[in-house]
Order: sequence, then C-alpha cells, then structure tokens
Amino acid sequence: MVDKDPNDTIGITTDRPRTFSRLAKKTRAIVVVPEIVTRERGAPDGKDSLAERGLDARLDEAVGLAAAIDLEIVNAQAVRITKPKPATLLGAGKVEEIRGLVEEKEIDLVVVDHALSPIQQRNLEKAWNAKVVDRTGLILEIFGARARTREGALQVELAHLNYQKSRLVRSWTHLERQRGGFGFLGGPGETQIEADRRLLQERIARLEEDLEKVKRTRHLHRKNRKKTPHPVVALVGYTNAGKSTLFNRLTESEVFAKDLLFATLDPTLRRLKLPHGTEVILSDTVGFISNLPTHLVAAFRATLEEVIEADVILHVRDIAHDDTDAQAEDVTEILRQLDVETGENGRIVEVWNKIDMLDDDRRQRLLDEAKGPSGTNGSSARHPVPVSALTGEGIADLLATIEERLVGDRPVFQIHLDPADGEGFAWLHRNAEVLDRGDADEEGIPLTVRVPPRHQPQFLARFMDGSHPQG
Ligand code: GTP
Repeated sequence: MVDKDPNDTIGITTDRPRTFSRLAKKTRAIVVVPEIVTRERGAPDGKDSLAERGLDARLDEAVGLAAAIDLEIVNAQAVRITKPKPATLLGAGKVEEIRGLVEEKEIDLVVVDHALSPIQQRNLEKAWNAKVVDRTGLILEIFGARARTREGALQVELAHLNYQKSRLVRSWTHLERQRGGFGFLGGPGETQIEADRRLLQERIARLEEDLEKVKRTRHLHRKNRKKTPHPVVALVGYTNAGKSTLFNRLTESEVFAKDLLFATLDPTLRRLKLPHGTEVILSDTVGFISNLPTHLVAAFRATLEEVIEADVILHVRDIAHDDTDAQAEDVTEILRQLDVETGENGRIVEVWNKIDMLDDDRRQRLLDEAKGPSGTNGSSARHPVPVSALTGEGIADLLATIEERLVGDRPVFQIHLDPADGEGFAWLHRNAEVLDRGDADEEGIPLTVRVPPRHQPQFLARFMDGSHPQG
C-alpha cells in the first residue's frame, strides 16, 4: 500500500470532481503567471499567441479565471522564466519567495497559469505546503462550476477524470521506479495507485455510457428540429466577449449573463425572427480560451455540435480588449480543430462587440475598417459587423447581415408540382420555405421555394424536373 497524503492531488475521490466553491467558501489564492522568455517571439507555429500578449492582459485574464470560481485572490504576479526547471518550472529563488508568501498570507491555493507536469505540481505542493492547480486544472474547475445541463456536467466530469488519469499514470511509473518494484505480490502488483486507476477507469466507462444515453436523446431532439427548415446561427467567441449579452439582445430574452468568465457552458437555443421574416435558431455556446488543451476541445465536441453544424457562425469579439487579435486567433484555431472552415468561404461572420467602449478615434477607424473591401464578393454579408450588445447599436445591421448571408446561400427555385403529389407538398413544407404559390395550370401548381443548402441534394433529386434556380 502506498500512503496517501490527504492533500495529494493524485489521490482520487470516486464521486464528482471537487470544485473549490465546495471545498471552502472563499479559498485564499495566489495567481502566478509564468512567462517563458526563451521562446522567439512570433514563432511561425502560431501556437504562442499567448507569448505575444501583454503581460498585464495575461495577468488580468488569469485573475479573472480564478475569480470565476470564487477564489479570494490575495496576490497575483507575473514571473519571467528564462530556463524552465524540469522539477518545478520556476527557479529555486522564486519557489522560495512564494513559499514565504504562502506562509505569511495563509494561502490555501496557488494557481500557476501554465501547464504543469504532474511531478512539477507535486513538487510545488510539497515546497509551498499548499494546493497547486495549473491552467487546465483551473479551466476544468470553472467548467465544473458552470455546467448547467446533465450532458455538460457529464462531459466536464469525464474530462476531469481523464486529466486525473493521465496524471495518475505518469505518476505511477514515477512511484514505481522510486519503490524499485518492491511489493508483496511481486512487481507492482495490486498497489493503491493501480486500484485507484481501475476505479477511475470504471468510473470513466460508466460516465461514457451515461453520456452516450444523454447524447442519443439530444440527437433525437436535434433530428426533430432539423425537420423544420429553420437554419441554425451559432455564437462563438473568446470568454467574456459578450456572447450571452448579444444573445439576450438579439432574442430580447434573459439568459444568465454576468461578468464572469465561462458564464455559458451548455448550448442555449432560442428562436429568432430576422427582419424579412426568416426564422432561425440562435445558439449560444461555451466561451473559448487560449491554450485550451486539445483533449478538452475533444471533450466538448459534442457540446459544440451546434456550432459545427450551424449555417452561420457569429464570431463575437471584444473589440475593445487589448488582446482582441490574439483572442480572435485562438478562437479561429479552436474552430479549425473542430474542422470548421475558417477561410473566406466559411460560414463565419465577425461581430465586433463593445464598440461603445472605444474612444472616438478608434471607433471611427474600426467603423471604416469594417466597411472596407472584404471577402470574395464584396457583399456586405462578408464584412465584420461592429455592434454594442449593451446599447443595441449596430444590432439591426447584424440581423440584416445574418439574413443576407443565409438567404444568399439559399437559392430560390421555381417548380411546378403535380397537385396529386401530397407527399411532395409535405416535404417542401418541412424542409424548405414556400415563398409563393400560383394558380394551377397544365404543368401543375407553380411554386417558388427557397431551399437550405443541407436539403438541396434531396430537393434536386426529387423536384429537379422542370425546376430552375432563380437569380
Ligand atoms: P462567457 O460565458 O464567459 O463565454 O462570456 P460571454 O461571452 O457570454 O460574455 P457576457 O455576455 O457574459 O459578457 C461579459 C461582460 O461583458 C459582461 O459584463 C457584459 O455586461 C459585458 N458586455 C457585453 N457586451 C458589451 C458591450 O457591447 N459593451 C460593453 N461595454 N460591455 C459589454
């Protein structure tokens, strides 16, 4: 048996992952933002947009993340690292300095806004005698606290357990080496960690089953919704960009919107009527964030299915934020990981939110820039749309742009339908929009219909005869 330290982050509990808010009312925390300065700026792999950011903005974001789970931030600091230490990431002097601070200020938790290996995390916890979480751990805690549907909760728990498991496995090899294969049953045998691992694996398998059931139900719901011709418009954006506020503004409904990072975790759907009467389903989704580990993106793939399959994606940007460009890059990168086409032919409309926060000069420059030549066909549907979700400025333009984008993508056909073809009528009403219906003549009933792209192949196959696209 391996003795388990009660503070051991590698030790597992078999119930739901803990959230700090449940551990204590206000956990006292320090936020450390390491900046590795050995890396060349602007590395071509595009992965280090974080390194490009202002350190102040990074600190603000890390503090915002920590505050999202109700921590009491006693101290926040950026730390320049020229040579990351394999054992502790931070240099010995810094480790010691923080140890003093932890002791003096009675700190329970140190958030290190960087990836930590299990060993680094463990060593830092030992050195500081406080709990340590890294960026992934922190994001998982936030997700855990924000999940509002069963599916969201299950997904977070699964991602959490997988994260724990990867730590356990690596740590297990480490411990085994330390003990030199010493064990009652010869070799590692049935160690505590192996048992933990098996428990984790069982829990993961059970969760996957549950999740599958929930997904099947949701899939059915989506299939039913797809039977209606309403296109789906999805909101994406960096966390705190203003998606929920915009969602509320667009639908004039009240969704949970607060100045909290990741206030939105599960997709929220609402029906919305555009100026010319096109009805769409608007979907609000989880906020994105830089350095979201790939396996987390994978875990949220199901949640993001609405985005992946949406007809139009509104990329909401906080255009007043210092890091707006780096944030936009991060969002684009995550969309790419989800196989969403992000180039000029994509379905994305950029929404430049929070223009009310800009000074007059910057505001004018952005408004001009937004109107400038853009996209392949110069259509205004390809331009970014400046708005303020807060004041409502630009919202009418946004609605018109969405409609133009949708309608532009949905060709109008004129067909003649056999009056006896009741099934044909039913299909058209289910899957397309009948814009006009004339009096029956010898060719049949003349209909003008608009067909969403996803139903076009079926439409063409069934109604091809005598039909031709208009305009
Ligand atoms: P996550 O759920 O974290 O992804 O955030 P979100 O993108 O849904 O952001 P949310 O709508 O919760 O807004 C974040 C903060 O920005 C809130 O304090 C909003 O009031 C504020 N905000 C949103 N839109 C605007 C805007 O147009 N102007 C100003 N000044 N503030 C805005």
